[in-house]
Amino acid sequence: MRWEKKHIQKTILLDESLSQLFHPDCSDSEKLIITDNSEKTIDYILNEYDEVILFAVIIIPLEKYQSLERHLNLIDYSRIFYQLVIVGDEDDIGAVSERLYHINDYITKDISDRKLNFIIKKSFSIIEKYFQTEQKKSWYYNKLVDAQRDQSDLIDIGRALSGEKDMDKLLRLILYLSKKITGADGGSIYLVEEDPSGKRRLRFKYSHTFSQEIPLEEFVMDMNTKSISGYVAVTGEVLNIPDAYKIDPLAPYSFNPYFDRQHNYISRSMLVVPMKNHLDEIIGVIQLINSKEDHTGVRKYENEAYEIKLESQSDFDKYVVPFDDRYNSLMEAIAGQAAIAIENNRLINQIQKQFEEFVKASVTAIESRDPATSGHSFRVAAICKEMANAINNVQSGYLSSFKFTDTDIKELEFAALLHDFGKVYIDLNIFKKAKKLYPKDLENLKLRMDYLYRYIELLYYSKEMEVIREGINYNKAVDNIVTLIHEEKIEKLKRIIEIKETIIKLNEPTVTEFEPDEVLRGILNEIETIECTDISGRRFEVITDLDKKNLSIKRGSLNEEERQEIESHVIETYKFVSKIPWPPEYKKIPEIALRHHEKLDGTGYPDGLAGRESVSLQSRMMAIADIFDALTAQDRPYKRAVPIERVVDILREEARSNKLDPDLVELFITEKIYEKIPSLN
Ligand SMILES: [Fe+2]
Ligand SMILES: [Fe+2]
Repeated sequence: MRWEKKHIQKTILLDESLSQLFHPDCSDSEKLIITDNSEKTIDYILNEYDEVILFAVIIIPLEKYQSLERHLNLIDYSRIFYQLVIVGDEDDIGAVSERLYHINDYITKDISDRKLNFIIKKSFSIIEKYFQTEQKKSWYYNKLVDAQRDQSDLIDIGRALSGEKDMDKLLRLILYLSKKITGADGGSIYLVEEDPSGKRRLRFKYSHTFSQEIPLEEFVMDMNTKSISGYVAVTGEVLNIPDAYKIDPLAPYSFNPYFDRQHNYISRSMLVVPMKNHLDEIIGVIQLINSKEDHTGVRKYENEAYEIKLESQSDFDKYVVPFDDRYNSLMEAIAGQAAIAIENNRLINQIQKQFEEFVKASVTAIESRDPATSGHSFRVAAICKEMANAINNVQSGYLSSFKFTDTDIKELEFAALLHDFGKVYIDLNIFKKAKKLYPKDLENLKLRMDYLYRYIELLYYSKEMEVIREGINYNKAVDNIVTLIHEEKIEKLKRIIEIKETIIKLNEPTVTEFEPDEVLRGILNEIETIECTDISGRRFEVITDLDKKNLSIKRGSLNEEERQEIESHVIETYKFVSKIPWPPEYKKIPEIALRHHEKLDGTGYPDGLAGRESVSLQSRMMAIADIFDALTAQDRPYKRAVPIERVVDILREEARSNKLDPDLVELFITEKIYEKIPSLN
């Protein structure tokens, strides 16, 4: 705050009778006020001279002093500086002098002109000195208040900047706060970057002018001292330029009026500060243009001067002032805060990007184990993201109460990318198992059936040979017997071939015309009647226990243990994902991923949770995305992709039977979420 109020000097005689003290020529009558209304006179003068400081020598008779004293206690001492001179007989004054607090001098009515003038001059001189001391005190006080305010602004700004994670929003905030504080009309932020060859350059990154809507276009410029921003970026000096059009021609930098001409604007005063990081490296420049601050006022955090719109030449002349010097250091401090915030932001983004790429690379690596599932997790993530965006636009109904922030969507994306991560712990063959028996097991079974075939054949040949040999020795007629044995052999062998074919049929995952259990039991009964041994004489087991277990699978291709192992992937995912030290905003990731196979009717896994309240919205979204992708992906050579219309029917059916969330399924279908996901393959 500056003391720019004018002051006036008045000698006030608070009694008509005192006018006799002054010889008509002895005092400046302009300054002399003679009045009988002692209490109102001072107020009157203060009202008349608004915004003026009154220096007054008040001369008052002793008898009127007490009423004035009461009044003096009520007046505004920031606007009046006075000396009181009491007029009275020496004896009377002496009698009451101990009670007179404000009195500065005493005179008698018979004082000479010269002496009176001397006393008045002396009084004004004392007032002036006192005023100067007060002024100084006030200046220091205001400095202190400003410094305190700067400090609290800096803390506020630091807090605001460190809380912003989005780089664009951060730059916007830096400029907004800088302009608000300095009352600047416009401003720009430049960031130092390196071109591909490693040469440093300045990128014009963000700009805003209060008085004009100017479209923002990023551009890069050489980093040298020829331009104002370049000079600051190279030297690290603060430039406070009162008038850009009057820059010293000998200065290394010059002002480029191109912008002004293009936008009919006048860039006059400028404050350009470097943004230095904690290593004192310059990472950018803040350039503020046209301070509109009212220098007679006390600066405020919400500077109302900022709101002045500069539209005409006269507006620029009237409102634009040089940036106050005190902003040099304040803006340097703010730019320092901004630099740290920008660097933190870059670092956080870099770490986040690195982590995200690492997650994606890991998921790609895991999915590449089985080319048939490649891209599944990425597609599920993309579908979940689209669903979240769609939910954000829902205006009515149950889903309208949910809103996903950018962080929520990122959390969901991570959960989706990692939802099947636990599959890495599971034998890949199980995923590839297309039929009830693994191909090698089927081949072995077929070979054993062939062995059985040959065994039976050999057995009957032996029987035939025996009969023939016995016939030769005893001359018996053997033909009939051999024929019978032969026919029995043919019958048996035919049956083996039939059993082999039945086993091949039984091996198919979708057997509908018969109960695999019963058929298998029949086969086993038949085979067990044949006393088949291997070459060491041990009983030959044609159908192993594992074959039996697999061939009796009622639905699909997996037996109970295999199904359980596959289902365990959600637990493995949960265990793995829980080990990652997620920041608090991503803390739901393990739980979201864990629940992607739960069904609303309680038939899902791992815990068979039932009802919407038991499974998070995110997991319910993921369940739909997972099923959709499993159905539509052409992921197995033996499995064809299901057409969209059929998938829609299946999803609706799943919703009707209370397995999937019906509102989410309808949103998924009506919003055609599946058409919005980018092709990931
Ligand atoms: Fe899964
Ligand atoms: Fe999945």
